[in-house]
Amino acid sequence: MPSKPLPPLAHIPADITAVADYAAYARERMTPSAWAYIDGAAADGITCTENLAAFQRLRLQQRVLTDMVGATTQYTLLGQRFNYPIFLAPVAYHKLAHAGGEIATMQAASAMGAGMIVSAQASTKLEDIASTAQAPLWFQLYIQPDRDFTLQLVQRAEAAGYGALVLTVDAPVNGVRNQEQRAGFALPPGVEAVNLCGSLVPAHTAHPGTSPVFGSTLLAGAPTWKDVQWLVQHTRLPVLLKGITHPGDALSGLDHGAAGIIVSNHGGRTLDTLPATIDMLPGIARAVNGRAPVLLDGGIRRGSDVFKALALGASAVLVGRPYIYALAAAGAPGVAHVLHILRTELEVTMALAGTPTLADIDHRALFTPGLI
Ligand code: FNR
Ligand code: LAC
Repeated sequence: MPSKPLPPLAHIPADITAVADYAAYARERMTPSAWAYIDGAAADGITCTENLAAFQRLRLQQRVLTDMVGATTQYTLLGQRFNYPIFLAPVAYHKLAHAGGEIATMQAASAMGAGMIVSAQASTKLEDIASTAQAPLWFQLYIQPDRDFTLQLVQRAEAAGYGALVLTVDAPVNGVRNQEQRAGFALPPGVEAVNLCGSLVPAHTAHPGTSPVFGSTLLAGAPTWKDVQWLVQHTRLPVLLKGITHPGDALSGLDHGAAGIIVSNHGGRTLDTLPATIDMLPGIARAVNGRAPVLLDGGIRRGSDVFKALALGASAVLVGRPYIYALAAAGAPGVAHVLHILRTELEVTMALAGTPTLADIDHRALFTPGLI
């Protein structure tokens, strides 16, 4: 019998100094089933591992004796001002990690002045998250097979004060989630996608003998490019597309009215053996060519990873699992700590690389053998 999960930490122990240190504490505080969902990835987890490995392969270039007076991580994105280029990625069901759920996460983002992207599959009402938030909040959504329901969700997000919509486009069907299957993952009572009540179509409604995926009503109702245009026309908020891994898709997105692109492979949770996001970023940034901001997520575990993403053309990054581990381990203070660690590491990297502002970070900040 597995032992019962431990309660969240009352104090953050001194041996948590890097965001990766939270994983072991989180695991002890979750059921094996919840851990399999949160830590898990698609199929063999190759993309998930590769997201981190690709950052570790990149080498930085130091520059010394740069004047850092007035150095800052502040920047403007889609007309909104941010303190530093790190967002909390949309992650479903925060209550799986901690009873405080999305409210605890929002409190941490508010305390640390970070942007937070609330998942369509949040386990707390989107209005309740927004009502006391001091942080800039964006709302992530899927275009549901029921378009009227999608529109109602958009209108609720607008009314609640969300500043942008993040349309996730890389998961029209569930990935092959073997870890979840082996652990028998199921949502525990009291944890559900409360904002989607009544709208979700079950993934597999096909009859026996018919095609298991192509026969599902989920895929039949899945959006296409014209639905991106439809969404853009039905909201006053900027729409960013999350889950772009091809330069051609980035350009199609802009042609259909997207205000920004998020290079993402869903943390390796959809199609396994996709390349690392950081390896795909330069080609996509080159194609977009400044027409719109390009963001990235997947594998960010260090402030230096944030720096590397900016050097290769990202305006900002999103972090996923690291803050969920911290939420599970220590609630809101844990999430705030993760943001503090990543921001500190980013500033250390900027100081040592001689880049006083985010605009100073470009490809020259990475070491290319033989180039200099
Ligand atoms: C996610 N992600 C995600 N993305 C999204 O658009 N909507 C969602 O509801 C979720 N839910 C979700 C749950 C869990 C448990 C994880 C780990 C991830 C993907 C997420 O936004 C992001 O793309 C990745 O987590 C980034 O990779 P890292 O930082 O986890 O390596
Ligand atoms: C996931 C879905 C919720 O990654 O996006 O689990």
